Amino acid sequence: MKQITTINEMRAEAEKLRLAGKTIGFVPTMGALHEGHLELIRASVAENDVTVCSIFVNPTQFNNAEDFRLYPRIEQEDAALLENANCTYLFLPSAAEMYPAPAKTNFNFGELETVMEGAHRPGHFNGVALIVSKLFHVVQPHKAYFGQKDLQQYAIIRQLVTDLNFNLKLVRFPIVREASGLAMSSRNRRLTPEQLQIAPQLYKTLCLAAEKLQNGSLSEAKSAAEAHLQNYPEVKLEYFEIADANTLQPLTELKLEQEVALCLAAFLGEVRLIDNLVLVLK
Ligand code: PAJ
Repeated sequence: MKQITTINEMRAEAEKLRLAGKTIGFVPTMGALHEGHLELIRASVAENDVTVCSIFVNPTQFNNAEDFRLYPRIEQEDAALLENANCTYLFLPSAAEMYPAPAKTNFNFGELETVMEGAHRPGHFNGVALIVSKLFHVVQPHKAYFGQKDLQQYAIIRQLVTDLNFNLKLVRFPIVREASGLAMSSRNRRLTPEQLQIAPQLYKTLCLAAEKLQNGSLSEAKSAAEAHLQNYPEVKLEYFEIADANTLQPLTELKLEQEVALCLAAFLGEVRLIDNLVLVLK
């Protein structure tokens, strides 16, 4: 695997690959890689001639300075995992490389960002759209892989790709979970052993609510979720929403065959976790 730290070198490499007719798969990450990330890498390796993984803890998407400071940074461990997964390039730029001067471009994704993560993390999706646009311009991928774990991020990036005519195909990859059901996340590393015992209840909550939803009741689904979490006072629920899986707007009624997303965010101590479950109403 080749490691690249400058935009110039990454761009030159991408141009060379494109001229040679090679397809480029791209997996942007912030590192502290786990099986979730590695599954995205493996999918890209299987479907493209070369795979680029970027690791960049993007300061502009953190609305909480402490979360940015404490975000795990273990690039050398990450590089070994990528090497094992047959990744071809690791793009590892510095903050000065990606932001030589403060960025002034602003995105407005309208109602896509006034709900859930957008509502609770002001400026977050602006930072995501900014860095993903920059990375797309540098890496010039044919296919880019994103996890359903960050469903709203996927919706935002899909809009970005459409609005700005990025010439690439997006892949929404299913959520990779621990055996306990806990969605894999770099932030799980910050949980205490006690919190790790409780964290799978987030997925349990989604499953209980999904069952009620399949029985046809929005309000029962919501109250089942809230009632279940009351058994776990350590979990501070920030939101639980039942939304259209594409527009992310909260549902007021249920329609058959609709793709519905149950989404939540919760704190366990200082660590903020998100999870979701997408289902088609039968
Ligand atoms: P990060 O949180 O490192 O995630 C990188 C990619 O891995 C994202 O597309 C995310 O949805 C996916 N991912 C994370 N956990 C997953 C899991 N358990 N199962 C499946 N996919 C999972 O998302 C970001 O970084 C950043 O916002 C980024 C897009 C890199 C922009 O800075």
